[in-house]
Amino acid sequence: MVVGIDTRPDSTGDIEIVARDVSDPACSADIVEELDDKQDGIDIWVNAAYPRTVDWGVEPGRESVDSWVQNVTLQLTANCTLSTAIATRMSKRERGSIINIASIYGLVSPDFTIYEGTEMGVPAPYSAIKGGLINHTRYLAGFFGSQGVRVNVLAPGGVEAGQPKEFVTAYCNRTALKRLAKPEDLVGPVVFLASDASAYISGICLPVDGGWTAI
Ligand SMILES: NC(=O)c1ccc[n+]([C@@H]2O[C@H](COP(=O)([O-])OP(=O)(O)OC[C@H]3O[C@@H](n4cnc5c(N)ncnc54)[C@H](O)[C@@H]3O)[C@@H](O)[C@H]2O)c1
Repeated sequence: MVVGIDTRPDSTGDIEIVARDVSDPACSADIVEELDDKQDGIDIWVNAAYPRTVDWGVEPGRESVDSWVQNVTLQLTANCTLSTAIATRMSKRERGSIINIASIYGLVSPDFTIYEGTEMGVPAPYSAIKGGLINHTRYLAGFFGSQGVRVNVLAPGGVEAGQPKEFVTAYCNRTALKRLAKPEDLVGPVVFLASDASAYISGICLPVDGGWTAI
């Protein structure tokens, strides 16, 4: 899904929602063209879609080669190629901010002890995908920086979603702030990286993790 928000000063705040499969390269090219040709072009792009295969997470650590390949394609290649297409468009107007959503698991290993006693776990490709996304963010920041395009990435920690009690207790104990993230905890960091408040920031990975990666 792609959500378009008119951010011009005189805008009515209208939101337009367009359903698109961002993992389909042909469709991605169409989305970029379609959205960029509207109004004054794309100023801000947040890659928050999370396409994955049906077997994602079924047997963490024992993923088949097929599953690896498909998820790298869906979650990493698609994100990177879409961002590149958008940054190319933004560069023609010499302005724009792209924000990727990675994870603390793109920065550090999962702490597997917090999943003990639950059926939860972290798929091995997740760490590879998120680590790759963080460094591709730096690549794009370097490549497009001289053309006025900023590219940054958030590394969120776990978000509250009705997880088992054992996991929640172990997870919270492992963070400095002693809690999981709430979805709204991501809003401020996205607004910051989207706005001119971060005009001199590009290529960073900002953890939004309640201090998980600090301790
Ligand atoms: N939830 C967490 O605890 C957590 C923690 C760290 C990082 N993240 C990251 O945040 C991002 C979002 O995660 P989430 O938990 O909100 O996921 P989610 O599954 O709740 O939501 C993802 C969204 O992506 C959309 N989507 C899926 N496939 C798509 C496709 N092919 N094309 C377009 N849209 C598609 C879905 O419709 C959904 O709206 C992911 O990159 C995830 O890795 C999540």
